[in-house]
Amino acid sequence: MNEIQKEQTLNWLIAVRNGVLDLADLKEGQKIADFGCGSGLLAFGVLEKFEDKVELIFSDKFQDCLDECKKILDESNIKNNAKFLKTDVSNIKLENNYLDRLMTRSVLVHIKNKKQVFSEFYRVLKQNGIYAAFEPIISENTRYYELLTPKQISDYDDFKKAEKEFMENPDDPLVNFSAESLDKNLLEVNFSNVTVNVQIASSKYAPTKETIINWFQTPPAPDQKSMKERFMEYFEEKKVNNYILEVQNALDNNMIEINSKTAFIKAIK
Ligand SMILES: C[S@@+](CC[C@H](N)C(=O)[O-])C[C@H]1O[C@@H](n2cnc3c(N)ncnc32)[C@H](O)[C@@H]1O
Repeated sequence: MNEIQKEQTLNWLIAVRNGVLDLADLKEGQKIADFGCGSGLLAFGVLEKFEDKVELIFSDKFQDCLDECKKILDESNIKNNAKFLKTDVSNIKLENNYLDRLMTRSVLVHIKNKKQVFSEFYRVLKQNGIYAAFEPIISENTRYYELLTPKQISDYDDFKKAEKEFMENPDDPLVNFSAESLDKNLLEVNFSNVTVNVQIASSKYAPTKETIINWFQTPPAPDQKSMKERFMEYFEEKKVNNYILEVQNALDNNMIEINSKTAFIKAIK
């Protein structure tokens, strides 16, 4: 990323963080958790506002995420009442009715069975406790085949069919949900006042060949398959490489419009 892109990303992350914190309606004296905290985007936002006036749990299934957050916290001068909890959200190591507020950002994309995890969130929240979250709805983003025409791509229909199939795969946590299914699953586990507020971000730009190769080679998260690897479940590598080359030739320096969907989520126990 260049400096401008870094600043734009940071501003976007801060806006997302503030959006989730606002939805959570945080107050002094509460027990608050950031599950799948990663490097602590949401949790550090809470500390900036409340310092030691809340009990804050940094939680992730990976110890190195917690170690990193602890290091940042120890090096800061922030007064805090923070705890660190290594747990998988599908089996949370907390007693029932413990938390006032539970937050996640971009964690559901890692969870195959969202409904089961929502029932865990419901279990560990107190009555009237709030779950607040932000999540990209990747299954509804612009697809490659929507940017291309059959004239530009050999075997266009085969690649379209494959992309449709893996972007709608019910076993893939990254894409096996929509705003509607999140709403439905939250209600099914007894949350009330559920809102899933969808936003569509449209960006118009002319990608370079380098940008396009990154679309295919960079996985959405370290434990997930890249787009190239996803296509390689359907076609030989040689054929996928040729497809990528054709996409590069078709789109290089041509203006395209890409839509990405995200959702702010709130639910009350
Ligand atoms: C995309 S990162 C988001 C990190 C952070 N929430 C943020 O906003 O920057 C997803 C995080 O979820 C964590 N995670 C993934 N699956 C998990 C699970 N089953 N239980 C708990 N944490 C999980 C990962 O370790 C990672 O830190």
